[in-house]
Amino acid sequence: MSKILVISTSLRPFSNSEALADEFVIGAQEAGHEVVKISLRGKQIAFCRGCMACSTRGHCSIQDDAIGIANAMFEADVICFATPIYYYEMSGQMKTLLDRCNALYHSDYHFRDIYLLTAAAEEEDSVPERAIAGLGGWLACYPKTRLAGTVFAGGVYAMSDIEGHPALQQAHEMGRKA
Ligand SMILES: Cc1cc2nc3c(=O)[nH]c(=O)nc-3n(C[C@H](O)[C@H](O)[C@H](O)COP(=O)(O)O)c2cc1C
Repeated sequence: MSKILVISTSLRPFSNSEALADEFVIGAQEAGHEVVKISLRGKQIAFCRGCMACSTRGHCSIQDDAIGIANAMFEADVICFATPIYYYEMSGQMKTLLDRCNALYHSDYHFRDIYLLTAAAEEEDSVPERAIAGLGGWLACYPKTRLAGTVFAGGVYAMSDIEGHPALQQAHEMGRKA
């Protein structure tokens, strides 16, 4: 049994990428894993100021919700991120979170397998490529990790557009096999 952390980064209700996250959660729970889901909706996460206090203190100097999320990431064996595609990239709030969790870089983090779930208005398979590459930059700094899987839901624009989308089943299966 693994500790799986699912982080949904969309801030809007009835989010398409969060629906993928929820399916991943259900699949992982069915497989018997211990699953925690965190949504960034309503969280206070300031930009990283680059002070590098995290390298000596082991935690960020800004006291907001990123501290608890970084702790949850530290303790997880598996992390699954869900993000809307914004300008062909991950959401700004997801990038801000990754920056704010820089204390993990200096830690003996446990996580190994990383998953990415994305949703976008356009349908082409290439749409999430830059988001995957962006997460790849983060993964490159955590050499014990690997990108274990991605799911993309294309053609979803408005809230709840994802209902009935085949990517939901893909996310479910990916959670079950995580
Ligand atoms: C700021 C912004 C930028 C976006 N950029 C893109 C884009 O580059 N390509 C695309 O296909 N959709 C783009 N979209 C549409 C969203 O990806 C789409 O609505 C998605 O379903 C939102 O996911 P969510 O419901 O999880 O927030 C953008 C939306 C916003 C608000």
